[in-house]
Amino acid sequence: MLENDLIKQEIKGTVLNPLPVALVGTKIKGKPNFLVIGYISPFNFGRHIFFSMYKKRFSRKGIYENKTFSVNIPSVDLLAETNICGTKSGRKFDKSSVFEVFYGELKTAPMIQRCRLNMECEVVEILDYDQNEGIIGKVIKSYANPDCLTHNKLDLRKVDPILWATGGDFNYYTLGKRLIVPES
Ligand SMILES: Cc1cc2nc3c(=O)[nH]c(=O)nc-3n(C[C@H](O)[C@H](O)[C@H](O)COP(=O)(O)O)c2cc1C
Repeated sequence: MLENDLIKQEIKGTVLNPLPVALVGTKIKGKPNFLVIGYISPFNFGRHIFFSMYKKRFSRKGIYENKTFSVNIPSVDLLAETNICGTKSGRKFDKSSVFEVFYGELKTAPMIQRCRLNMECEVVEILDYDQNEGIIGKVIKSYANPDCLTHNKLDLRKVDPILWATGGDFNYYTLGKRLIVPES
């Protein structure tokens, strides 16, 4: 029961949104495969990353095969390619030629050249949640295109990430205006 005549309505699903969509890359039998992940979050101040993946995803094979993955942040200009990776499974459709890839320290975590931000990660823990798994990765190294920096700091306006309403209307959005804190 809520206090003081406060009216609230229960919402199904998460209200913690929007979040940037990520293209998570794995290597399966020698070939890169990418899927879209909306439920993803950094923790431990960015040293680790967590994402939620259905056990039925083809990408699961790559997670278990190599215990590595990449996280790539697509910009708005990659919406069509991103949508392919989020709607077609590598089980039936070879997604290895959708993007040119590069590798860092981990030779089994393919990163997408055209994504302005990339991370290579090592799997440190897998949580079993019925039909889903929570994949926890240690971030080995992160990369940015130099043209995404302002005064040597990451400038999100230059990254132009695709945001996804993880709950709610499930549409894609772009970044809004920067806020300036009013003087008190
Ligand atoms: C916007 C968006 C967000 C998604 N988020 C997730 C997610 O968090 N976890 C998941 O398992 N699948 C998610 N998916 C679905 C997978 O990306 C999709 O099923 C993909 O085709 C699986 O590819 P794979 O079978 O090659 O691994 C999302 C799809 C879209 C379009």
